[in-house]
Amino acid sequence: MAIVAPENLLLVKFVLILIFFIHLPFVGVMIGGSAVSMLFEIYGRLERRPHYRRFADQLLARTTHNKGLALLIALAVALNLLFLQAAYPPAGLSPRFALAVLLPLTAGLAGIYLYRYLLPTRLAAPLAFPLGLASVGAMLLAYFVLLCGAALLLRPDEWPHLSGQPWLLLSWNGAAKFLQFFALSLAVSGAGILLHGANLCRRPKVDADFCRFVKRSGATLALAAVLAWPLILLFDLYTLPVFARSGYLYILSAVALVIGLATAGLLLTSLENPRAKLAAPVIVCCLTLFLGWILSDHLAREQTLNEQTIAAKELMRSAFIAKQPAETPAAAIEGDKTPAVDQGKTVFERVCSACHHFDRRVVGPALQEVLPGYAGNLEGLKAFIRDPQKRNPDYPPMPKLGLAEEEIDAVARYLLRTIGD
Ligand code: HEC
Repeated sequence: MAIVAPENLLLVKFVLILIFFIHLPFVGVMIGGSAVSMLFEIYGRLERRPHYRRFADQLLARTTHNKGLALLIALAVALNLLFLQAAYPPAGLSPRFALAVLLPLTAGLAGIYLYRYLLPTRLAAPLAFPLGLASVGAMLLAYFVLLCGAALLLRPDEWPHLSGQPWLLLSWNGAAKFLQFFALSLAVSGAGILLHGANLCRRPKVDADFCRFVKRSGATLALAAVLAWPLILLFDLYTLPVFARSGYLYILSAVALVIGLATAGLLLTSLENPRAKLAAPVIVCCLTLFLGWILSDHLAREQTLNEQTIAAKELMRSAFIAKQPAETPAAAIEGDKTPAVDQGKTVFERVCSACHHFDRRVVGPALQEVLPGYAGNLEGLKAFIRDPQKRNPDYPPMPKLGLAEEEIDAVARYLLRTIGD
C-alpha cells in the first residue's frame, strides 16, 4: 500500500482499531465456540452423555451457521494487515509475515467447516476430530503470529535485524498479547453460550434441565476466563517494553480490571441464581474488555512510535557508539584537562538532551520543574540517574543509561549548578 499522507494517518489508525474491534470478538467466538464444542462432543461420546453431545452440536451449528462469516473474517484479517502496514510503514511487516498469518488462518477456517461436515459421518472419530482440533490450532497459530507482529511494533530497535533473524518476531510480550486474546475469546464465547441457554429457556416447550445445563456451562467458562485474565493483563504490562508504557495505559488497565471484576460478579450471580437475566450485560462487559485491550495496544504503539521517542532512541544509540572511544587512555588524558562541570555539559548534551529540555517537556519532564526537588541533594540526583525509578505516571519511565560513574557525577554537578545550587 502506498505511503499514507500525514493528514490521513489519523483516519487510517482509526479504521485499524475499528477492524480489530469488529473482527477479534467474532474470531474469538469462532475459535472458542468450536473448541468448546469439540471437547464436549468428544467427552460426550466417551462418557455417553447425550446432553453434552446435543450441546456440542448446537454450539457448532451456531458458530458455523454462516459460511460468509469465514470469508469475512479472512478478509478482515487481510485488511488488518494492510492497515497495520499503512499506519506504521517504517516497521515494514513483510509479505512473508502476512502469509504466516493468512495461511494458517484460512486453513483453520476451512478445516472447521469441513469438521462440521464430517462430524455426522462414520469418519468422525478417525478423521473429523483430529481435523477439527488441528483447525482450531491453526487459527490460534495465525493469531499468535499476528499478535507477535503487533508486539514487534513496540521494539523498533529490532526491525532492521528481522529479515536475517525471523525468530526475533517471537517475544514474551507477543505471547502475553496472544494469551489475552485467548482468555477474552473464551470469555465472549462463554457469554454467548450463556445467552443461547437463556434463549432456550424462554422457548414454550423447554427442556428445563438442558437449558440450565447450557447456561451453567457458558457462565462457568466465561467466569474461568475472566478470573484468569487479570493475571495475563499483568503479564502483558510486565513484559511491555519500557518505551511503550504511559500513564494513560495504566489508567486504562485499571479501568479494565474493574470491568473484569464486575463481569466476574455478574457471572457469579448468574450461576447462583439461574433466573437472573444477565447474559446481555455480560456480553457487553466482555466486548468492553476487548475494546479496552485493543485501545491499550494502540496506546502502547503510539507511545513507542511517536517521533520524539524514536528520535530519543536514535540519539541514545549514537551516544552509545560515540562513547566507545572516550574510554581509550588518550581521551581520558584529554578529559583530565577539562573541569568536571564542562564534562557534565557534554554528557548532558550528548545523552540527556534527547529527552530533556530545561524549559519544556520532551520525552521526559522539563528539568527546571524537576531539578529543584534535588537542590542540595547531589547524591540523590546521582542515584536517580544511575538507576531511574518510576516517578510520574504522566511519563514513561526513564531508561537506565549505563553511564560511567564519573559521567554521572559530572552531569549531576553540572545540572545542580545550572539551577544555582
Ligand atoms: C530516553 C529518554 C531519557 C533520557 C535519555 C534521559 N531521561 Fe531523564 N527522564 C526521562 C523520563 C521519561 C522521565 C520521567 C520519569 C518518571 O517520571 O517516571 C525522566 C525523569 C528525569 C528526572 C526527574 C526525576 C524525578 O525525580 O522526577 C531527572 C532529574 C532526569 N530525568 C535527569 C536525566 C539526566 C541527568 C539524564 C542524562 C544523563 C536523563 N535524564 C536522560 C527520560 C529520559
